[in-house]
Amino acid sequence: MFKLLLTLCFIAVIDVSFECTNTVYPFEKYLATKTPYRVVANNTFGKLEYEGCKAIKSWMIVRHGTRNPSDGFVLQYNTRLPDILNLIVTNYGHGVSENIEKISPKDIDLLKKWRSKVGQEDAKKLREEGEDEMILISERMQTRFPEVFPNVYSNTSYKFKYTHTQRTKKSAQYFATGLFGKKTAKDVWFPLPLKRDPILRFYKLCSKWRNTIKKQPIMELELFKKSSHFLELVDNVNKKIGAENVLNAEDVLLMYFACAFETAWNKVLKSPWCSVFTIDDLKVLEYHEDLKYYWIDGYGHQLTYQQACPAIVDMVEHFDNKEKYPLSVLYFTHSGTLLKMLAHLGLYKDEKILIANDYEKNGNREWKVSHIDAFATNLAFILHKCGDEEKVLTLHQENVVRLPSCPDSDLCDLQKFKEFYTDSVDHCDFNSMCDTV
Ligand SMILES: *[C@@H]1O[C@H](CO)[C@@H](O)[C@H](O)[C@H]1NC(C)=O
Ligand SMILES: *[C@@H]1O[C@H](CO)[C@@H](O)[C@H](O)[C@H]1NC(C)=O
Repeated sequence: MFKLLLTLCFIAVIDVSFECTNTVYPFEKYLATKTPYRVVANNTFGKLEYEGCKAIKSWMIVRHGTRNPSDGFVLQYNTRLPDILNLIVTNYGHGVSENIEKISPKDIDLLKKWRSKVGQEDAKKLREEGEDEMILISERMQTRFPEVFPNVYSNTSYKFKYTHTQRTKKSAQYFATGLFGKKTAKDVWFPLPLKRDPILRFYKLCSKWRNTIKKQPIMELELFKKSSHFLELVDNVNKKIGAENVLNAEDVLLMYFACAFETAWNKVLKSPWCSVFTIDDLKVLEYHEDLKYYWIDGYGHQLTYQQACPAIVDMVEHFDNKEKYPLSVLYFTHSGTLLKMLAHLGLYKDEKILIANDYEKNGNREWKVSHIDAFATNLAFILHKCGDEEKVLTLHQENVVRLPSCPDSDLCDLQKFKEFYTDSVDHCDFNSMCDTV
């Protein structure tokens, strides 16, 4: 079942692989956690094989696809944004400032026609783009590893699970659609979702993390907002719309997220909100987001990623189980789970911690949520049998990644993996790390 929307496909008949490319505009690379998956996807279909090895099991965890914003954002989007829009349209063409005249007539036209695209009742719901993302990921994964993603559904071969939200439920259903087709996908059995799932959303149960990290102000973020780079950005955007000190930091962030969400929702039409930013402006906004997620869901605090061990244990138990089934475990969850897992594994770790003051030095940082935490971000572990040995292949965003346990090879010996991550595999004492003292 191939649903290839507005993409261009190149087919290499010789090795039966083919690639579908999307047009990616430069500004689409800086949209942080609201980046649509098409910007980071591995668009190549085709078998992924290692000589002498056979894929025998998989364990995959997926962030839901492109969604609507939260209700708090929707409110701002429907009230404050139209005010800003009026300001721009009124100022344009009146020589208020030379900057505003740099907005192209086409973008002004788009702004004039702009209407809010979400109602409060649709907050956080999966969008059509999110449906497409899921279908395409599962279709491609199936062409890579047909042995562990059979196209005939059975409740024994597959274990699906999602969190207690509409967006992960729909994501799971569309992922199944890509694997089995629309009709069969309706028959897929899903367990009842849990409000606080100890594996899919472990952090909901970690009171120490919630109280001491999640609910606390983020110092580096506050510092960055006061930095010359950020103040200059706010100034730039004010000037760009022919105003002075009218827009504050929150307004600028609102416009940025409007640009990001609208870009994610529509593959073709450019969001007019993106046209108020230069690429340099977007880089500052991206750093703001990278700092935020680094200190809430990333390397900022040890407990944040340490508490991801139940998910690692679940994966190892699935691989250690001598039963042939289920072949594939598929979990549908949220950004907070994926980022903590990446940090737990030691991926995308920079040598120095990420701080507000180092904006200029960190241009080439590993920790860029636009790349590592787009909508539909996914992490897949594929267990291979190579002769007598069992080895794990890891893919992030469908690209092969090498774990710190095996920096020199794609496939990592399962035993070696377990030894390297022994603290999480053999000593995952979630309660004692998470209980508030
Ligand atoms: C699918 O399998 C689960 C156990 O893994 C079981 O609880 C459930 O009832 C099964 N569903 C169907 C429709 O067979
Ligand atoms: C992308 O997918 C193709 C097809 O499965 C695979 O051959 C290729 O290695 C993947 N790219 C990366 C960087 O892993």
